[in-house]
Amino acid sequence: MDAILKHLLKKEILRQKTTINLIASENYASPDVLRFLGSPLTNKYSEGYPGKRYYPGNVYCDKIEKLAQERALKVFRLKAESWGVNVQPYSGSPANLAIYFALLNDRAANAGKGEPKTDILGFSLSSGGHLTHGHKVNFSGKIFRAVQYGVDPKSGLIDYKKLEALAKKHRPKIIVSGATAYPRKIDFRKIGVIAGSVGAYHLADISHIAGLTAAGLHPSPFPHCDVAMTTTHKTLRGPRAAIIFSKRRKMIHNSALMLPDAIDRAVFPGTQGGPHENAVAAMAQALEEASKPAFKNYQKQIVKNAAALAGALKKSGFNLVTGGTDNHLLLIDLKNLGMDGLSAERRLEEAGITANRNAIIGDASPFRPSGIRLGTPAVTTRGMKEKEMKKIAGWIYGILMKKGGSGAIKAEIQKMLKRFPLPY
Ligand SMILES: Cc1ncc(COP(=O)(O)O)c(C=O)c1O
Repeated sequence: MDAILKHLLKKEILRQKTTINLIASENYASPDVLRFLGSPLTNKYSEGYPGKRYYPGNVYCDKIEKLAQERALKVFRLKAESWGVNVQPYSGSPANLAIYFALLNDRAANAGKGEPKTDILGFSLSSGGHLTHGHKVNFSGKIFRAVQYGVDPKSGLIDYKKLEALAKKHRPKIIVSGATAYPRKIDFRKIGVIAGSVGAYHLADISHIAGLTAAGLHPSPFPHCDVAMTTTHKTLRGPRAAIIFSKRRKMIHNSALMLPDAIDRAVFPGTQGGPHENAVAAMAQALEEASKPAFKNYQKQIVKNAAALAGALKKSGFNLVTGGTDNHLLLIDLKNLGMDGLSAERRLEEAGITANRNAIIGDASPFRPSGIRLGTPAVTTRGMKEKEMKKIAGWIYGILMKKGGSGAIKAEIQKMLKRFPLPY
């Protein structure tokens, strides 16, 4: 093993061990998931799908991929007769690219005919959406025509009325629901009804809340969407990869293709080459772990921990976007503290807590936004509970609100972390 890399890996593992990780999109994969990721499956090319590969020698990769598909359906309580499933996307962004390609494949045919049509109506980044939901710096806003909906500036909640008005005005081909920094439940039913009323596909991006959804702690998007996707490395504790679920029904704009066939073609050969079968196996392992009763308890604890953290932070005077949380994350609005998200992020990291700065509605600069996002999936994986959340809230208060160094807090953090070892 290369000595420099070995040293850097050792250091990174130590950093993970000695940090309270409140980054809402991160987690610790199990040793078994890591084992499959680092397995010789990485050596294999398997372009195509089980039973229809463009390379020989895929007898075991076929079985692994089918297992991942079956387990993905099982974890979300879906029937193979109703939903197609693709486990090959390299990650969340390539998954969304493939979905857009699949659903917008009549775009070229329509170009130049009459009014320009909107391709995507997505949740804006500054309201809590993801870059791939139509942001202008991302492919989703660069190669597709995107319009954005957002939250009500006062309540911080999704403005469903405005979303409906935008849908009626722009008649998008896809409405994207789902978020990366939204602390409340998303009304997938409402968005599904709006999408239906304008003939749009409803894509639900449940990357953040997949674990909660699987455990029945967040209303399911599946009865109300045409396509759903999720990354597998957040609340699901799997590898960096993604899954796309699509309804087995005819496409509106292309009667020759069913949605799952269009998605499969858009993933391979449309936007990707050979799938990473090591990641697919690691995903199948994570999905097996997610089907156990302990996983439901784990997700429940994530939500309880987020509520405890939010409650304690509020008590000490922090202003939370929407006033709290009902999922795995919360957002502190720092505007009234004369501090921006970047300086808060740096102060916390210096003391041994990682949490990322985040835009809050009305922010102009994504580099210096006025919010900080805190999530509980990773600390819950370490075994922390409400008691520790209250402690962490106190430390955050000490680091951000009190003058002077955080030397004493740093030592207390290290002491506590020793009681909550990483799973590797
Ligand atoms: C809601 C949502 N969708 C998509 C993605 C993209 O995933 P990836 O970073 O794996 O490309 C993310 C990542 O944070 C996300 O939060």
